[in-house]
Amino acid sequence: MVRIAANGVTLAVEEAGSGVPLLLVHGFPLSAQMWEPVLPALVAAARVITLDLRGFGGSEAPPAGYTMEALAEDVVAVADALGLQRFVLGGHSMGGYVAFRVADRWPERLAGLVVVDSRAEGDDEAGRQRRQQAIERILGGDRAGFLEEFLPNLLAPVSRKRAPRLLAELRRIAGEVPAHVLVGCLAGMRDRPDSRPLLPGLRVPALVLVGAEDAITPPGTARAMAEALPRGRLVVVPECGHTPPVERPVAVAEALLDFLRTQWPGHD
Ligand code: MLT
Repeated sequence: MVRIAANGVTLAVEEAGSGVPLLLVHGFPLSAQMWEPVLPALVAAARVITLDLRGFGGSEAPPAGYTMEALAEDVVAVADALGLQRFVLGGHSMGGYVAFRVADRWPERLAGLVVVDSRAEGDDEAGRQRRQQAIERILGGDRAGFLEEFLPNLLAPVSRKRAPRLLAELRRIAGEVPAHVLVGCLAGMRDRPDSRPLLPGLRVPALVLVGAEDAITPPGTARAMAEALPRGRLVVVPECGHTPPVERPVAVAEALLDFLRTQWPGHD
């Protein structure tokens, strides 16, 4: 692990493999650990960089800076520090919201896009209200109750049944996230803009991957996003919920490897 200073914050970054640079951004309220099950396969075809966003995993947790734009600035600062002029940017869920902010401000930096169980549209009114309720619950001291209710939704019922340790693992990762970071990110997600207008202009190769049983960002949303991306390709992972890299790592690694090898041949 290396520590990279970005925008006044020290971020934990891991790097492995060689080939096309693939920078992966985790979802909420997780960390780069969510990518670990797929990394051994990916390093055969890419230089894979995973980072803990500010507030998560091994990164510092400053009091502020949790808008999707601020998190995007951190991602680009990490790319700058590693000397990556262009890279394939992948994001899971909240990481996808961050990736779209990078695409909005620094489109020239993107060589490709990987969107895993995320969406381009912003929250609707009901969604914004749910975020607000969650924020008030955490500020009222019930951080544990919020996580207990939220985390099971990250996995399909079939995954929870097949591998109960997955939920325990997510609880362990999320359990380390400070309350102010949860609140900051919930507010950042609530206030994020609609990224759909960007999609037709993103002319890079794009992989949209989604769990067939994802209840948070369902396959219909992913399909619409893949269709709106000029070079979008949709992969639906069966028997899988909102967090495919931990629920179905083999299927995810295969889809990613296929995408990388078709779009960037000769990197093996
Ligand atoms: C995530 O997995 O990053 C979040 O569930 C996304 C969201 O709540 O919109």
